Amino acid sequence: MPAPLPPTFIHAHAKLNLTLDVLGKRADGYHALASVMQSIALHDTLALWPAPEGEITFTCDVPELGGAENLVARAARRLQAVTGCARGARIELHKQIPAQGGLGGGSSDGAAALVALNRWWDLGLNQAQLIEMAAELGSDVPFFIVGGTALIEGRGEVVTSLPNLVPLWLVVAKPEVSVPTPGVFRALTPAAWSDGRATRDLVALIRAGTLPALNDAHFFNALEAGVMRDYPAVATTRDLLQQAGAACVRMSGSGPTLYVPCATLAEATRVFQAAQTLGVQCWLTHTIPSETKFE
Ligand code: C5P
Repeated sequence: MPAPLPPTFIHAHAKLNLTLDVLGKRADGYHALASVMQSIALHDTLALWPAPEGEITFTCDVPELGGAENLVARAARRLQAVTGCARGARIELHKQIPAQGGLGGGSSDGAAALVALNRWWDLGLNQAQLIEMAAELGSDVPFFIVGGTALIEGRGEVVTSLPNLVPLWLVVAKPEVSVPTPGVFRALTPAAWSDGRATRDLVALIRAGTLPALNDAHFFNALEAGVMRDYPAVATTRDLLQQAGAACVRMSGSGPTLYVPCATLAEATRVFQAAQTLGVQCWLTHTIPSETKFE
């Protein structure tokens, strides 16, 4: 009988897409992407508690996310199946990242569960093995195993770590509309495809370590125009953020969450407070380096 494991907490951070180029459609129906993804301080929290042998129980403080199909529960079952591990876990998830927002919350929770249980159950899987399992859970789950600043390619599952970005304050805003990812990709026409230039240019700047003060020209999202067209609430939130003084407003992933990068806390606070006054649901947060991705 192994000794009982000490309860543990792990943070699952959200991400932003600083760039998102769609290169074209693949034979398997997915779209080929090139993107610079960035971990941010906004996070969910997972708690692991001892449970009887083999038993996985999962609960979430947002009841509709609490089912067996949540990526956290699926990650736990997959780890047991792949490694033959007979240990159990009672897992609680405290949500703070808005769900289905383009911030990768569900994917990050799944990745955090893989990493935390690998450690907790002492399974000894290496990063490459965890990334492979993460890719089975969803296209952008592998990024969260790596975290920080990274180049994303393939359908989203090919991750290359980049040097940490210059720290940025962020105002993140959630329009009150639900935007399902498959529909966003389905509505995309070849006119929105690109050769990946926005991502290539930002990656070159990050690698050269000569990043200038980032401005509007550095951030890009090929899905943004279509989402703004099909979901007017997103365009309205963008307009309100601009009214609140935002110099740059960009959408993350397939939306609808928008973000405003800011060089100083004073600027971020001004935009955050003005946007709140205008009735926009928003958070003041910041980028984080890879080293603190689960802290
Ligand atoms: O892999 P994931 O479950 O996150 O993808 C959700 C949906 O988004 C896919 O079923 C597909 O319709 C679309 N998608 C895509 N190309 C990608 C990633 C996602 O078309 N690279």
